[in-house]
Amino acid sequence: MNIPRHIAIVMDGNGRWAQNQGKKRVKGHEEGAKVVKTITTYCSNHPEIERLTLYAFSTENWKRPRLEVEFLMKLLDDYLKKELPVYLENNVKFEAIGDISAFSKKLQKTIAMVEQKTAHCNGLVQSLALNYGSRDEIVRAAKKLQQQNIEITQESFNDALDASMDVDLLIRTGGDFRLSNFLMWQAAYAELFFIKKLWPDFSTNDLESIIAQFQGIERRFGGLK
Ligand code: FPP
Repeated sequence: MNIPRHIAIVMDGNGRWAQNQGKKRVKGHEEGAKVVKTITTYCSNHPEIERLTLYAFSTENWKRPRLEVEFLMKLLDDYLKKELPVYLENNVKFEAIGDISAFSKKLQKTIAMVEQKTAHCNGLVQSLALNYGSRDEIVRAAKKLQQQNIEITQESFNDALDASMDVDLLIRTGGDFRLSNFLMWQAAYAELFFIKKLWPDFSTNDLESIIAQFQGIERRFGGLK
């Protein structure tokens, strides 16, 4: 069966989920982190899925109130430390994409530590997009090639990006129909699914139903049948 090898998700709707329940926005992020764990575990149990890329913090998210940004940073740090044994148990390799040099030294250290301790895992790759934006990634890739005096081709450019694997299935929760600067190069031929559900309500059943719909799609990549 045709299973997506690379799934990417825009995890939108945490704030609205919390507000709908009369809670503070950050409660939604906390709940969202639990769903990250559930979905990652689901994907790690399906060997055909090789990579799961999750949009955890965009280059634009710095515009949020300082306290929310600080909360997200702490949540990430705590999550990574707490999840390390789970990554190892499930043979999941953790990778960050994005420009993490803007994060605190402490968070950078945690990211590097979890990347290093899971480097030998050869199951699912869970890639978190952290201070990530496609435009920033594309500009950094172009600069890298220029500095190393490498000829620009589609292949060399692809290799210079933070994430070099094409996305097969891109999901956005939360009801909006946009990419928000996420994996714009890699999603050139992705199948796009926009669902109304808010991220904290997203379940493995939802993912299974989307994968079932994905399997019914004929992917032609610009060619003919
Ligand atoms: C969008 O919801 C979500 C984010 C900007 C952050 C995503 C973070 C998480 C899912 C939790 C932490 C992640 C990890 C990996 C531990 P929103 O706040 O924009 O929601 P809204 O559209 O309802 O305001």
